[in-house]
Amino acid sequence: MHYRTLISPWTDRSGRFSLLKTGIFVLVCIPALLIAIAFWRHALGPLPYKEALHQVGDWTVRFLIATLALTPLQRILMWPKLALIRRMLGVTTFAYAAAHFSLNIVNQNFDFVFVASEIVKRIYLTIGFTALIGLSLLAATSTDWALRKLGRNWKRLHMIVYGIAVLALLHYFMQSKIDVSQATMWSGFFILLMIYRIALKFRFALTPSPGTESRPASIRSAC
Ligand code: HEM
Repeated sequence: MHYRTLISPWTDRSGRFSLLKTGIFVLVCIPALLIAIAFWRHALGPLPYKEALHQVGDWTVRFLIATLALTPLQRILMWPKLALIRRMLGVTTFAYAAAHFSLNIVNQNFDFVFVASEIVKRIYLTIGFTALIGLSLLAATSTDWALRKLGRNWKRLHMIVYGIAVLALLHYFMQSKIDVSQATMWSGFFILLMIYRIALKFRFALTPSPGTESRPASIRSAC
């Protein structure tokens, strides 16, 4: 397979133009663009970097949950093409998390010593930073080359995404102070996704099925 076809956000695995991938690529860029525009128009309030940090953090969690929701959605909608965008959504989550971290550095006037000491001192930052390291590991191993090199271990490694989600949600809760409604909502989605996964593991037929008995087995073989 040609290298260029693997990294392009607008082609499928055969190198053909994919409307689905292109559409999702445009969609995932929109929040970043809107935040950047709001920043340039001085529409982010008196603490623009902090506001941008918050908004980018929110989007990181949304993309993380969307990435985790892809496989269940793929099964429920019986739409295997959704697999095409899994890698893109994962890398997007990492990109937003990295931007969130960078904005924290900018917000602290590039005082790297202070940033590092805060990560050590404040548990919610230690947790966020651990999640970021985890996402970096997943992004670094999201290439076809890494997939081939790691073989069976690739899947095992990428299971840490669930731990990362727990850490990210904890970080969300801990910094929320009074209003925990958003953190609670996204944790609710995460718990639902986990229930779905556990149910699948124990072979409950959760997918609308034309042939009831054979359904779970056929779903499993389709992955
Ligand atoms: C996967 C990693 C991470 C995710 C998903 C994440 C997500 C979030 C979210 C959702 C918020 C709340 C935004 C809001 O209230 O609207 C937040 C706040 C924040 N995050 Fe993160 N974060 C991550 C990593 C980090 C890291 C590595 C740092 C810095 C070391 C960091 C520093 C902060 C700070 C300083 C706040 C604001 C706290 C405050 O206003 O008091 N985050 N993060």
